[in-house]
Amino acid sequence: MSGSTRIADGDDGRRDRSAHLGAAEGALLLADDLVAGYVPGVNILNGCDLYVQEGELVGIIGPNGAGKSTLLKALFGLVNVRSGVVTLRGQDITGLKAHALVRKGVGFVPQTENVFPSLTIEENLQMGTFQAPKRFAERFAFVAELFPALGERRKQRAGSLSGGERQMVAMGRALMMEPSVLLLDEPSAGLSPALQDEVFIRVRQINRTGVSVVMVEQNARRCLQICDRGYVLDQGRNAYTASGKDLMDDPKVIELYLGTLAQAR
Ligand SMILES: Nc1ncnc2c1ncn2[C@@H]1O[C@H](COP(=O)(O)OP(=O)(O)OP(=O)(O)O)[C@@H](O)[C@H]1O
Ligand SMILES: [Mg+2]
Repeated sequence: MSGSTRIADGDDGRRDRSAHLGAAEGALLLADDLVAGYVPGVNILNGCDLYVQEGELVGIIGPNGAGKSTLLKALFGLVNVRSGVVTLRGQDITGLKAHALVRKGVGFVPQTENVFPSLTIEENLQMGTFQAPKRFAERFAFVAELFPALGERRKQRAGSLSGGERQMVAMGRALMMEPSVLLLDEPSAGLSPALQDEVFIRVRQINRTGVSVVMVEQNARRCLQICDRGYVLDQGRNAYTASGKDLMDDPKVIELYLGTLAQAR
């Protein structure tokens, strides 16, 4: 099927979730009809659906405040899920705490404050394996192969690194526990165009090592270019979902979410 699927409210005010549930069959990670929020009585996610099949790179785009970070935090047990369910390989993981999720193979790189600036690169990566210190050497070797600069500069404090280098440390830390799925919140934010390119290349590379990825991005076009499938999130709901390419070519998505940059492509 080509073309993007509109999955938010239809004319009758009801969502057709059958396409989501059908395609999500056998998913590695599944979020089904999530309702979540921070303050009592205020829902930020209003029935959010998402799935990631083994090996997929899934992108989430949408306006500021749409709930993209909240969705990742809900998947990672950092926001109270009021209803709906999150499963990993079919097992209910809704509301499990972050350390339990890390052990089960879910990695998360938050949007901000994702490294310990006063610690060295090596110590930051050690924090990634605090639940399994014996794995440090083996996993450090894996991360250093993926990001050679981190291995070469392992004694340097993370606080003295550039924004792009810090992002590599943050991703490296999350990879230390050999996640099957990695949740990335705006990995290219605040970086120069050249460094953004580097981050997107790295994310692809990580995905090619077999790690499934869910990536939230404000750089919507670049995100859709590299992802297998994308979701457009708006007001705490998925507004559209399709392959990255179909979303990029969809006039409605261009008009509402990609703006003039996309039209000038
Ligand atoms: N800790 C919090 N407590 C209360 N409200 C919050 C909290 N964090 C986020 N929100 C609210 O939830 C809504 C969604 O925020 P969220 O950070 O998920 O959006 P986003 O799509 O990631 O936006 P951006 O593109 O700016 O990162 C916003 O209205 C925000 O004010
Ligand atoms: Mg955000």
